[in-house]
Amino acid sequence: MEYLTYGKTNLEISRLCYGAGRLPDTCKTIDAGARLMLKALDEGVTFWDTAEGYGTQPHLGEAIRQINRDEIVIQTKTANKDHDSAATSIDKALQELQTDYVDIMLLHAISSPDDLATREREGAFDAFREAKADGKISFIGCSTHTYTGPVMDAVIDHPEIDVILTTANKEGRMLEGGTFEKHLEYIERAYNLGKGISIMKVIVAGDIPEADRPEWIEWGFDLETAHAINLGMTEDRHIDLDVGIARASARKRLIQSKAA
Ligand SMILES: NC(=O)c1ccc[n+]([C@@H]2O[C@H](COP(=O)([O-])OP(=O)(O)OC[C@H]3O[C@@H](n4cnc5c(N)ncnc54)[C@H](OP(=O)(O)O)[C@@H]3O)[C@@H](O)[C@H]2O)c1
Repeated sequence: MEYLTYGKTNLEISRLCYGAGRLPDTCKTIDAGARLMLKALDEGVTFWDTAEGYGTQPHLGEAIRQINRDEIVIQTKTANKDHDSAATSIDKALQELQTDYVDIMLLHAISSPDDLATREREGAFDAFREAKADGKISFIGCSTHTYTGPVMDAVIDHPEIDVILTTANKEGRMLEGGTFEKHLEYIERAYNLGKGISIMKVIVAGDIPEADRPEWIEWGFDLETAHAINLGMTEDRHIDLDVGIARASARKRLIQSKAA
């Protein structure tokens, strides 16, 4: 497994990120979800992504209860926009995740520049700032869901956004608001500015034939401007495959860097 610093944050993350958004598809209990998270940790996956809206913070919390907190980096999100509901979401995250701090808190699914700039979302931002000052969260970021173009301009230019979770895959599928080529330029610009970059939809939310998935996942790991590749693993076999590809990518990148 390759570990790297997540942009200008001082967080060390595994390049493979466990996307816990779809855990409930296969894990009927919190314990079943926690077991998968711990299996991934045993394989070196130390970067875990969840959200209030996924309902999987308790699954991660049960796993976190069984380990040392500093073994992992937690990224979670809230879609709540006003101050009070966002502040409540942060406290709920701490309680469900069984921790006293979250490494990265994201504004969930920014859908337009106006969305980021609204007075409502600014309320959530204030709650994030207060939580940061209180030590409840360490870094602030956002996810952009499937949006590019003006949304990427807005989030890249925001000085308080340290981390961006965005869509990227081999054929630029599921992108709205701009071209794939331009989106890759946005990602590169954000990366060069020191933003932490994670990519999702790497296998188009599972909408790729099984035989072709390794090639699509490898494309994600080949994207030099992505610190983390967020894959929505829901079964043991997904973890085995994705960890294998992550390890092969790490070996390839090490060989390339030694040759350079
Ligand atoms: N706006 C946001 O912030 C946002 C939105 C979406 C997702 N996310 C995050 O990103 C993560 C990834 O979501 P995504 O939409 O990009 O999904 P994805 O990783 O593109 O696809 C996940 C789905 O693909 C299938 N799959 C098949 N082989 C797999 C493999 N080797 N590894 C992983 N999955 C495999 C699984 O479904 P089947 O087995 O049923 O085919 C799985 O549920 C989520 O878990 C979540 O943490 C964030």
